[in-house]
Amino acid sequence: MLKGLTKGLIKGIHHITGAVIDGQRDYDFYTQVMALRMVKRTVNHEVGNLWHFFYGDYEAHAGTIMTNMLFDGVPLPKYQRGRGSIDALSYSIPIGSTPYWIERLNKHGYATTERPERFGEKVTHFQDPGGLDSELIESDNDSRDTTPYGGLDASNIIRGFHSATLISRIPELTIEFFTSGLGFEVVSEEGNRTRLGANGGGPGRTIDILDEPDLPWGVFGLGAIHHVALTVDSMDAIKRVWGVLGGSGMILTDLRDRKWFHSAYLTEPGGINIEISNVDPGFTVDESLEELGNTLQLPKQWADQRERIESELPAMKW
Ligand SMILES: [Fe+2]
Repeated sequence: MLKGLTKGLIKGIHHITGAVIDGQRDYDFYTQVMALRMVKRTVNHEVGNLWHFFYGDYEAHAGTIMTNMLFDGVPLPKYQRGRGSIDALSYSIPIGSTPYWIERLNKHGYATTERPERFGEKVTHFQDPGGLDSELIESDNDSRDTTPYGGLDASNIIRGFHSATLISRIPELTIEFFTSGLGFEVVSEEGNRTRLGANGGGPGRTIDILDEPDLPWGVFGLGAIHHVALTVDSMDAIKRVWGVLGGSGMILTDLRDRKWFHSAYLTEPGGINIEISNVDPGFTVDESLEELGNTLQLPKQWADQRERIESELPAMKW
């Protein structure tokens, strides 16, 4: 029924968001070890006195944005991998840079595991300080021209996300949702993994669906990747996707103003949280490109409570 109605509108991954604790450890890891730039220093949209950090490439391009919600003091269980959860987020790194990254992560105390090649590409697993399952994937198919940052250059810099791997409760329905509902195409299959691509596929435009029928349902909690946000490039496009999905009977939120972009959220039929985001007005709406991430920028609904929020947020050393 949905086939074709949103075709071409989803351009790839916008951001990926995890649920973790310890803002200081998180900030130090992403800025110093991963050499990403903090592109927005903000707080949780729903709970004003919890940190929410956005990291990305220098220009904060869609497809490079890793965000963590810091849940210090919130009684959440520990994440348990299972069906209906996000297995891993993967970064795209240049060909030949795996040894560099293994040495860099190990030197800072983060264990790495080389995984079997995936669709012909080298994969290395590690966990971020909050426990998020993360991977580095070497790809010679990434045309993003990433601005050197944090002492890294074209030979080793993270170019953004490569992909995300979802463990669906019902893979057939998840694949149907992504292809018919969001215009993805099945790119290839390998074992129990189906690779989906948006906008031609490739790094930053890839979602993998795992079929693990013997796993129990996953448990959301600390160390979980909470959602994957997919990107469209205009307000018209997000309204179109939102309208088509809602009109087809899917349950999704209203279209929300997230200050730097607009978003709608839904849980797809396989149990995974998905967000659809546009890119307007962008991360420079409240601070200049040069100053991104340097000061606290509050979501609109918390703007009049800065003094209280600043006094309640866990202390940080930037
Ligand atoms: Fe999000």
